Amino acid sequence: MISSKKIAYIETFGCQMNERDTEIMAQLLGRDGYEVTDDLDRANLVVVNTCSIRGKAEQKAMSMLGRLKHSKRKNPGLMVAVTGCVAQQEGRNIQERMAHVDLVVGPQSIYRLPELIDAIRTSGEKRTAIDQAASFAIPSLLPDSKRTSLLHKRFVTIMQGCNNFCTYCVVPYTRGREVSRPPGDIIDEVKHLVANNVREITLLGQNVNSYGQDRDDRDYPDFPTLLRKVAEIPGVVRLRFTTSNPKDLSEELMECFAELDNLSPHFHLPVQSGSDAVLKRMNRKYGIGQYLEKIEGLRRYCPEIAITTDIIVGFPGESDEDFAATMVLLEKVRYDGAYSFKYSDRPKTVSAGFDDKVPEEVKSDRLRRLQDRQQEITTERYRDCLGHIMEIMVEGESRNGEGQWSGRTGANQIVNFTGNPTLQPGQILKVRIDEACQHSLRGCLI
Ligand code: 5AD
Ligand code: SF4
Repeated sequence: MISSKKIAYIETFGCQMNERDTEIMAQLLGRDGYEVTDDLDRANLVVVNTCSIRGKAEQKAMSMLGRLKHSKRKNPGLMVAVTGCVAQQEGRNIQERMAHVDLVVGPQSIYRLPELIDAIRTSGEKRTAIDQAASFAIPSLLPDSKRTSLLHKRFVTIMQGCNNFCTYCVVPYTRGREVSRPPGDIIDEVKHLVANNVREITLLGQNVNSYGQDRDDRDYPDFPTLLRKVAEIPGVVRLRFTTSNPKDLSEELMECFAELDNLSPHFHLPVQSGSDAVLKRMNRKYGIGQYLEKIEGLRRYCPEIAITTDIIVGFPGESDEDFAATMVLLEKVRYDGAYSFKYSDRPKTVSAGFDDKVPEEVKSDRLRRLQDRQQEITTERYRDCLGHIMEIMVEGESRNGEGQWSGRTGANQIVNFTGNPTLQPGQILKVRIDEACQHSLRGCLI
């Protein structure tokens, strides 16, 4: 039953940027008198925050939108909004294909959500807001600490967009060019969060290493300088950041891992391929030699650092030899974890126009081989932790009750352990690791 009360449901696909955007939208709607619910059936506004990084991600969002057609048939008062990267990419096409969609809002325009909804309610007309304002600024909004379940850890956006134009990637088209957020706003937001019991902060951007480079101002901090400033804020127990392009990873940033006690020893460094020829066609602007030097540098400054990566298999023209080079890279780096994907064509990208597309079966076969080997390496890396005493941050009690709790190491590995009712999420504890499972560790409190 739809009541006259304003009730919103938000579904989130995609990356942490989108998760953060969902928090912001929830806050804006909350200020506008909405209750934000987890129960889709109670809502009279549904926002689908979409991702278009790969074909599959886009299909997921589209099929949810398809299902909402039936919901709207039952409840004609239901308003349907599409936000995120598919919204930006497709614009009005979405409403042309799906008449039940009232509102399409690109990532740069989410701050206008309440105003756009009001405009639709008064005019009865659909709206699309996908302008990519040249001087787009992230408003200095302070987050509503009541909304998310994981109150002890939060994301803080430091920049939007990307200037790299890797040939496979849709992000420069959906999220626009790089825009850094003023350091004062970032610091204020972090201070506000720690004052509200947040203990772990992740600085977010598509390409955090180029923070500040879009500004002419010489006094604007670069990324390592910003990182040091945030690390200094009392109450920041753990600090993380994501994502970086290897080409911009500086020695100064590596040094931060030796220097800052609260910077967690984890680096997500997407490599995409182990073949120089493929990297070149991807326009990544580094070769494997340089990449390996960066890994070595990180391990020199911080021997215990965990390194994770992203890999695409079956990029157009990827030969058996190219793929073999990626498999060799796994052995050389011994990643703690890797996210791997089959290449898919994305709208407007350069590689969508490349010849030599790799057949689907070949992609699937390569993906399986890569994932199988990486899983073995991940497990071997987990086994290296056996017997070690590690500091974990408590995440929470597991759903099945029975006193089982989980936490995360600085390297972001999940550790399950038998806890007690006095524990609090965000608390730091010491555990001894006695078991390595496929996707997690098991320890006991000491
Ligand atoms: N096809 C497959 N994977 C892709 N990624 C980005 N674009 C594509 C694409 N067109 C992967 C990259 C990136 C991660 C977020 O998604 O590995 O690092
Ligand atoms: Fe998906 Fe990329 Fe957009 Fe994030 S920025 S939602 S990963 S397309």
